[in-house]
Amino acid sequence: MSHSYQHGGNIFTVARSLGVPPDVISDFSASINPFGLSPLVRKSLINALDSLVHYPDSCHSELKQALAGYHNLSSANFAIANGSTELIYNLPAILPGKKALIISPSFSEYVRALNQHSWDAEHFILSPANNFSIDIAALEHSLSSGVDVLYFCNPGNPNGTLYPQRVIEKIYRLCIDSGAFMVLDEAFMDFCEESSAKRFVVNYDNAVLLRSMTKFFGIPGLRLGYSISNATLAERLASLGGPWNVNTLALVAGVAALHDSEHNRRTIEFIRQERRKLFESLGQFPQFRVYPSGANFLLVEIKDGTRNKKLKDQLLAHHRILIRDCSNFAGLSDSFFRIAVRSGGENQLLLESLRKIMKL
Ligand SMILES: Cc1ncc(COP(=O)(O)O)c(C=O)c1O
Repeated sequence: MSHSYQHGGNIFTVARSLGVPPDVISDFSASINPFGLSPLVRKSLINALDSLVHYPDSCHSELKQALAGYHNLSSANFAIANGSTELIYNLPAILPGKKALIISPSFSEYVRALNQHSWDAEHFILSPANNFSIDIAALEHSLSSGVDVLYFCNPGNPNGTLYPQRVIEKIYRLCIDSGAFMVLDEAFMDFCEESSAKRFVVNYDNAVLLRSMTKFFGIPGLRLGYSISNATLAERLASLGGPWNVNTLALVAGVAALHDSEHNRRTIEFIRQERRKLFESLGQFPQFRVYPSGANFLLVEIKDGTRNKKLKDQLLAHHRILIRDCSNFAGLSDSFFRIAVRSGGENQLLLESLRKIMKL
């Protein structure tokens, strides 16, 4: 079956087209924890195999309790989903209105989901020339044109920009004043949890925060995400998923992942350290501009006219390295690419391969 989803991590299709097994490719295109599964998650999955003869717990009770502990919130604040993508696709069905504004560049599934529900989606484009900063007055103006919902991702994807809480609060105030609902996507916030707006959002009824468990916890193949909101909205969102939207293995893995605080602490420390090294090394290429990031990936702009597609093809053909070509993000051109922060060895391999290609 063919389809037109264009995301990073399309490793099976890429491997098939090259005639190689997927594990020979270094995947820098999807931003997944390079440590992979925590040992506790691995053990929990093996132990849960026999419980597959039962239906999953449709109340997601244990996971909601574990999330309450992880975030220091109440379990009533969470709705569990089959990846945060499921929430993105269900939200337009319950949001009031028909016109959405998306702070962009951003995750492309917002538009796809909105369009499926006959919403109009417009972009509020942030400029790389201004380091993707947000002009609050311009945003206020755009919101006043009858926008019902604002979508915003923090840290931004693919730009990686981490917006401080005071900016988020300002944006939220604009939403309140203009009567718009705010969808705040924090898919990568576990890497910089102190900047989350979670405590803020639960006190209001016109905002929802989306979280993914696939990136930081390294389980994209299991599909697991959740929302944080006030209890009424959480219940509405949970009811849209149907009775068994999240499978047993995802549920037990989620609980174990949240409890493995040592693995999570090591992940944060490692990513910060490797991201800094990568940022500095990529900054030494005269052809590149690298954007600061709070997440486990970096956006790079090629300044010498080389197209990202050419670079991507060369990295794949000669070095078996897959990067994310960012041409299809609203607001970006074919001179941008995104790379994940991988293991130390893989990051070195990427840098050496780039040096060869860029003749450094
Ligand atoms: C910003 C953002 N939000 C949401 C998602 C969806 O994540 P998942 O459905 O795996 O939880 C992604 C995936 O790449 C993303 O980049």
